[in-house]
Amino acid sequence: MEIKTDFLVLGSGIAGLSFAVKASALGDVAVVTKKEQFESNTNYAQGGIAAVHDKADRYEYHIKDTLECGGGLCHEDVVKFVVTEGPARTEELIQWGVEFTKAKNNDSSMYDLGQEGGHSMRRVLHAKDLTGREIERALMEKAATVNNIKIYENFFAIDLICKSTLFPDKKISPDQCLGAYAYDANRHEVHVFRAKFIILATGGAGKVYLITTNPDIATGDGIAMAYRAGAQISNMEFFQFHPTCLYHPEAKSFLISEAVRGEGGILKLKGGETFMEKYHPMKSLAPRDVVAKAIDTELKRTGDEYVLLDITHRDRDFLTNRFPHIYEKCLEFDIDITKDPIPVVPAAHYLCGGVRVNSFGETNIDRLFACGEVSCTGLHGANRLASNSLLEALVFSHRVYTKIAQQFADIKCEDIFIHSWDPHGATESDDSVVVSHNWDEIRRCMWNYVGIVRSNKRLERAQRRIDIILQEIDEYYRNFIITRDLLELRNIAIVAKLIIECAKRRKESRGLHYNIDYPHRNDEDWRQDTIITKDTI
Ligand code: FAD
Ligand code: SIN
Repeated sequence: MEIKTDFLVLGSGIAGLSFAVKASALGDVAVVTKKEQFESNTNYAQGGIAAVHDKADRYEYHIKDTLECGGGLCHEDVVKFVVTEGPARTEELIQWGVEFTKAKNNDSSMYDLGQEGGHSMRRVLHAKDLTGREIERALMEKAATVNNIKIYENFFAIDLICKSTLFPDKKISPDQCLGAYAYDANRHEVHVFRAKFIILATGGAGKVYLITTNPDIATGDGIAMAYRAGAQISNMEFFQFHPTCLYHPEAKSFLISEAVRGEGGILKLKGGETFMEKYHPMKSLAPRDVVAKAIDTELKRTGDEYVLLDITHRDRDFLTNRFPHIYEKCLEFDIDITKDPIPVVPAAHYLCGGVRVNSFGETNIDRLFACGEVSCTGLHGANRLASNSLLEALVFSHRVYTKIAQQFADIKCEDIFIHSWDPHGATESDDSVVVSHNWDEIRRCMWNYVGIVRSNKRLERAQRRIDIILQEIDEYYRNFIITRDLLELRNIAIVAKLIIECAKRRKESRGLHYNIDYPHRNDEDWRQDTIITKDTI
């Protein structure tokens, strides 16, 4: 089947849905999302959205905090417009029905503003500790009121369709995106989506690491698709590890928000000694890269499996009211956060790199835009400031919309013949252990060799292994009928390769990238983004 639309939006998190709501004023929108529509990183966001709302706060302070956190690689122009456009975008969310927690007895802001690592002020709008769920709820409800948004759940975007893929023998420059192939996982059919504009909003890639705060959808599909299509990919070496993921054998990827440290939570070793004073003057509220690296160092030094996050000194009513979700979740594992320190470990959390875009979300492929975690905008540089991600997604989805609105009336949907999906005589696999084995091997390999602390030797090892796995996957992909697991495996393997490649190229340590063979920051040679394409690897 071929589905023709004005806008093809891949992903239904904050970036995809906020764009879809706006674009529906211009034309028809198809939102393709690989699971249920709420299932996204957005849905699990806890801390909130950073934006200047307090009377005592200033744009300059938020800009300064973002730049300091970004280790010299943020694009200053981008930081300035994201911060200054932020309040208008969060106001829009409020108009669409998002209910942020209100302040009690505080006349300098209507809202209760959270504090997180690296911020010099309280400036994080939140809905208790379930901010993402509240945003996702409001956006889904808003999208449901609009007639010309159609959401395709359980449709998995496989590959972008570009002019150069249809005419491989012609030199097409710049290339142009025409749509995407998407696999309907319920009916086991592949459809062609043809659109005037294609917006990648497929989110991050935490699942490339063994331990992650991310849900299962975060397999870097958009980055892998864009890379295969010839898009520029940037700064993949900067993978952010969140310092505090709940450590419990049965707790799958549960984040303990940085806001807990913002409200006074203190990191301690198992024996109760504090340690962050050795690493940063802001102690437990230092920027994330510093805290995650400090915990990693302490765990390696002591041989312990976790450190503790202690907030038991705060009042019980305050804790159960401010962090109801964290309180309830920890109780399921017999941890009462009002009485017990919480065992935590660092976990892969956020990809600062991604599909390289300009300040209107345009990629180097015509009609292909990217916004949200899939993109690399220049905002985060070498390390993202807490709660700047939801903000970035909102500001950029709006900018993509404004750019497209200027061109929309003049653009036609190309009627070039697009052939339907060709399964190349593939048969049902009788050996799916290959898929599960390789999934596991990639994630372990990335965790052990391309984690918080890297070395040349470890990166070489990782590269050799991932190259072999990629060959195996390629063969498997050509011979067997596609499944979701296989499509995701193919994508995480590519994302792993891109992270390793960028990490190998950067011969210094900066922000989230720490290599013991080049332990210092080198501004003279490396104050620049890493940029790769499939032709330059
Ligand atoms: P997502 O919200 O991840 O949405 C991606 C969408 O794309 C999903 O619908 C997914 O199913 C779909 N998709 C992916 N691949 C395909 C495919 N092949 N075909 C079809 N659909 C596809 N940031 C903050 O600023 N503040 C916070 O407090 C905060 N807390 C966080 C807590 C947790 C536990 C996590 C994991 C992240 C947190 N972050 C936070 C980061 C932030 O949530 C994400 O960066 C942001 O939500 C990304 O939004 P997005 O729309 O780009 O992607
Ligand atoms: C958190 O609540 O700690 C996550 C915030 C973020 O990732 O920005």
